[in-house]
Amino acid sequence: MDMNEQILKIVMEFTDEGIHVIDSNGVTLIYNKAMEELEGMKGSEVVGKKILDVFPSLTENTSTLCKVLKTKQPIIEQYQTYINKTGNKITSVNTTIPILNNEKIMGAVEISKNFTKVKELYDNAISMSNHLKNCIRKDGDFTFDSMIGCSPSFIKCVDIAKAAAKSNSTVLIYGDTGTGKEVFSRAIHNESNRANKPFIPINCAALPEGLLEGILFGTTKGGFTGAIDRPGLFEQADGGTLLLDEINSMSILLQAKLLRVLQEGVIRRVGGIKDIPVDVRIIATTNEEPYTAIKNGTMRKDLYYRLSVININIPPLRERKEDIPEFIKTFIKTYNDEFSKDVWDISNEVLDAFLSYNWPGNVREMKNYIEGSMNMVDGHILKAEHFTPQVQETLFKKNLSSGVFDLGYDFKTSIDEYINNIEKKIIDDALRSSDGNITKAANTLKIKRQTLQYKIKKYEIK
Ligand SMILES: Nc1ncnc2c1ncn2[C@@H]1O[C@H](COP(=O)(O)OP(=O)(O)OP(=O)(O)O)[C@@H](O)[C@H]1O
Ligand SMILES: [Mg+2]
Repeated sequence: MDMNEQILKIVMEFTDEGIHVIDSNGVTLIYNKAMEELEGMKGSEVVGKKILDVFPSLTENTSTLCKVLKTKQPIIEQYQTYINKTGNKITSVNTTIPILNNEKIMGAVEISKNFTKVKELYDNAISMSNHLKNCIRKDGDFTFDSMIGCSPSFIKCVDIAKAAAKSNSTVLIYGDTGTGKEVFSRAIHNESNRANKPFIPINCAALPEGLLEGILFGTTKGGFTGAIDRPGLFEQADGGTLLLDEINSMSILLQAKLLRVLQEGVIRRVGGIKDIPVDVRIIATTNEEPYTAIKNGTMRKDLYYRLSVININIPPLRERKEDIPEFIKTFIKTYNDEFSKDVWDISNEVLDAFLSYNWPGNVREMKNYIEGSMNMVDGHILKAEHFTPQVQETLFKKNLSSGVFDLGYDFKTSIDEYINNIEKKIIDDALRSSDGNITKAANTLKIKRQTLQYKIKKYEIK
């Protein structure tokens, strides 16, 4: 091997950039290691073969190498995202240059930079800046006065929240989606002596773990490649309130770090060595029942005890139907103002439907339905016809499986036999949806594994 050949071989092997060289017939001459990794192919599968035979998804027009053979023009820094042969999503930047000898095409060289990691970082940075923009959004600065609800269970929540506003203790709010967890958090903050300091909500479920840690605690230059000195939300919320939404989605490891912060009142930036004291009031929310979350391993028990100094359990809307008329009135008023309408009331038919529906999306769902219908109404009464067909389908068709269980008891079989049949059917369903995994099915049914095994035997379930 002469010196030039050796140099070429070393460069090919050790460079980070993928290199693919073809001759004038489109046959591969060189396919280096970095290219193998990028495209998920072996050099032996590619070298000596025609490029279009090896990459059947490419054509004369889509392959940049083939294009350059034809046009004799270089293609500079073309971005490309594709799924490679091993199923990974790759983003690369390719430069493809013709090899010419007195105008005659001899072949082409393609150099590919793997941009996948950079693209991920970039996408993450964008989603982070969008997220921070959302935090600044001051939509509806809620106070206890602007909260709607008169049912006893709701008033109880408000009383606890008002007491919470007078202290600095952490609060854990549990409630289904759309029940008003953020509304409560904002009201507590706005009524507290932190009201003129920041209120920063962060959704723990929306960000990948690595990013979330940096966002919460900040980063230090040199902490990891590309890291900059940046304060996290704890520092930015200093003196104010941090709302940790969907805390049960935070990784267990990060929950441990959070616990330490809560206990010691200091944070440490990612990659940093300095403890920075912070004065932040934490409100955390979960849409999974806390004890279930602990049992399922999505919430650390010690963190739960530390967070739930004050507990607020917001009942779902279907359990406080007394509040529905007041919500209707208020939302109609809101959208009268916003859309310049003059609606006075809803029809009896709509009111009945609202009162009997079980509202899985709670207050948010209702607000959305009213907003939609207020767009369509012209007169003074909101009627069924003003709702979209989908909403009508949901609201006005009696749906027996939504909360009301149709027993269908025929008064002929004995009640014991009848109930056994129901139990058998429920167990059968649970086993089916756990693919026959008895432990899983027992968990779903909230009974002991042994109890389930006994029942399976008793009912001769296969
Ligand atoms: N008591 C209330 N008074 C007035 N508006 C309410 C009340 N409860 C909920 N809302 C309204 O319902 C919508 C949903 O409330 P919020 O965002 O607080 O719910 P959430 O429990 O945080 O839901 P998710 O779990 O989906 O984040 C908001 O538009 C809010 O203004
Ligand atoms: Mg929320």
